[in-house]
Amino acid sequence: MIMRMIGTGSSLPQQIVTNEDLSKIMDTSDEWISSRTGIKERHLAKEETTASMSVEAGERALRNAGIKAEEIDLIIVATITGDYITPSAACEVQAGLGAGRAVAFDINAACSGFMFALHTAYAYLQSGIYKTALVIGAETLSKIMDWSDRSTCVLFGDGAGAAVVRVCEKETKEKGNGRGLLAFEQGTDGFRGKVLACEGRKNRNPLIQNSFVPSYVNMDGQEVYKFAVCTVPASILRVLDEADVSVEDIKYFVLHQANIRIIQSVAKRLNVDVEKFPVSLDHCGNVSAASVPILLDEMNQKGMLARGDKIVMSGFGGGLTWASAVIEW
Ligand code: ACO
Repeated sequence: MIMRMIGTGSSLPQQIVTNEDLSKIMDTSDEWISSRTGIKERHLAKEETTASMSVEAGERALRNAGIKAEEIDLIIVATITGDYITPSAACEVQAGLGAGRAVAFDINAACSGFMFALHTAYAYLQSGIYKTALVIGAETLSKIMDWSDRSTCVLFGDGAGAAVVRVCEKETKEKGNGRGLLAFEQGTDGFRGKVLACEGRKNRNPLIQNSFVPSYVNMDGQEVYKFAVCTVPASILRVLDEADVSVEDIKYFVLHQANIRIIQSVAKRLNVDVEKFPVSLDHCGNVSAASVPILLDEMNQKGMLARGDKIVMSGFGGGLTWASAVIEW
C-alpha cells in the first residue's frame, strides 16, 4: 500500500509586519531579530481566523490534488489557536469546505502538530479505515502573544498549510516510483513541558476566588534551543535508519521554522549542506503547527519536488514534542 501526499496548499494573512514595523511599537530592532532568528517579516491576522485560513489552505490543497471536498474521509487540523474550544477547527473546516462525508477533529502538539496529524492520518489510511485525508496545520499565534514581551512576540506569525494524503492502491512500491511514507517517529517529553507554555483558561466558578489574569506564551528560549538542537538530529537519524536511507540520499530537509540558528545547527550536526534546508521563516516567522506545511507548499509551488525525491520532514516544540518522517515524493 502506498500513501502519497497528492496536493498541498497554504494561506497567509494579507497584513505583512516587518521587523522595522515592530521597532516602531516596541524596543527592538531589525538587527536584533534578524541576527538571532533569521526572521525579517511575518504575516499577522486582521480579518483572518484560524478556521478561515485553514479553509483557504484546504481548498488550495484540494485543487492542487485535483479532488473534490466530497472525496475526503478525514480532516485533521493541528492547532493550539482554534477560534473556539468547541467546535474544533477541523469541524469548521468540514463545514467551510462542504466535506460532508468526512470525520473531523483537532490535534494539539504545538509546533510538531502537523507531523503528529500527518502520522495519525497515515495510521488511519494504513489500517484501511479511510482512503483520503486532509491534514492541516493552522495558527493565529498573534492572539496568544504578550505584545509587551519583546522576547517572544517578535518570533511568531500567523498562517495555515495543508496537504491531501491518499492511499494510491494501483501504484507499486518499486524504487524510484515515489513510495510515499518510508519511516516515521514521534516523541514527547511532558516532564520538560513548561519551558514553552501558554496557560489555558482559569476556573472562575462562583465557589473559587480567582482574579482574571489572561495568559500568553512564555518561553525559556535557551532551553528550547538546547532541546531542539539535540533532539532533532537524533530523531532524523533514527527515521533515516528505519527507512534504510542515507543522509546523502535526502534532497531536502523540511524542518519546523523556529529559528535559523536551530536549522544551521541541525545541518552542521548531520554534516549536511545548509542549502538542503529550505527556509520560509524569513517571511513567515515561526507559525508553529503551520510552518512545515506552508514551507512544503511553497516548495511544491516552486516545482522543487519531483516524483521519487526523498525528503525529511521534522517538527519540534511545545509539549515538549517532536516528530520526523522520511517520504519519497
Ligand atoms: N529586541 C531586542 N532585544 C531583545 C529582544 C528583542 N526582540 N528580546 C530580548 N532582548 C534582549 C533581552 O532583554 C536581553 O537583554 P539583557 O541582556 O539586557 O537582559 C538580551 O536581548 C538577550 O536575551 P536572551 O533571551 O538571552 O536572548 P537569546 O540570545 O537567548 O535569544 C532567542 C533569544 C532568539 C529566542 C534564543 O533563545 C533562541 O534562539 N531560542 C530558540 C528557541 C526558539 O527559537 N523559540 C521559538 C519558538 S519555540 C519553537 O518553535 C520550538
